[in-house]
Amino acid sequence: MRIDVLTLFPELFDTFAGTSIVGRAVSAGSVEITCTNPRDFAQDNHRSVDDRPFGGGPGMVLSCGPIFEAVEHVRSGREVAPTLIMLTPQGERFDQQLARELSGESDLALLCGHYEGFDERIRLGLNPREVSIGDYVLSGGETAAFVLIDAIVRLLPGVLGDPESALDESFSHGLLEYPQYTRPRDFRGMAVPDILLSGDHAKMEAWRREQARERTQLRRPDLLKEDDEAGASGE
Ligand code: ADE
Repeated sequence: MRIDVLTLFPELFDTFAGTSIVGRAVSAGSVEITCTNPRDFAQDNHRSVDDRPFGGGPGMVLSCGPIFEAVEHVRSGREVAPTLIMLTPQGERFDQQLARELSGESDLALLCGHYEGFDERIRLGLNPREVSIGDYVLSGGETAAFVLIDAIVRLLPGVLGDPESALDESFSHGLLEYPQYTRPRDFRGMAVPDILLSGDHAKMEAWRREQARERTQLRRPDLLKEDDEAGASGE
């Protein structure tokens, strides 16, 4: 997969793209992450990328020129046009299902905003898919892009050591993950449940399923409701 990030702060991605699972995926060639800075496409001596809003109001608005040119630069000479995603609190909500869908794409371009927002003609002219990571306002799309990249890259074939581990995680079956334990068997009086030491794989599997369901019921009953609705509609 190739991911282009359009950002005014490319330095933020240096450590991120070189660390942990994303870093490993980059080293292994499973994903290539390239940053393009719209400021490099600014059209004035001050390298401006934003301006005051028509009609007045607080803050600055990202201008069309540098963003259009940066997107056109990323699109040029490509066999596959990247799917353009704008990070914005106004977008559709990012979740595991959308991560799974986007992990099937070969080319993504993530457009990070900053300041008060985008000139509306960026939406109208570039027609991006708009994605939000939650109902709160970030200072910029970069942290949201981290979230998308992390959730997507770990789903790419071969990125997680054990192919089972992505399947087992929270949300992958519409449930939260069951509790996990490692050594020691007893830590400060808190013992590992006996069943996990029993060696009976069928029983352990049943226990985990039950725990996942109970935990989801307790913490996120909305997920079970979605599950039931999906079941009822034959999905
Ligand atoms: N940019 C600012 N806030 C955001 C959010 N909640 N999700 C995605 N991009 C954003």
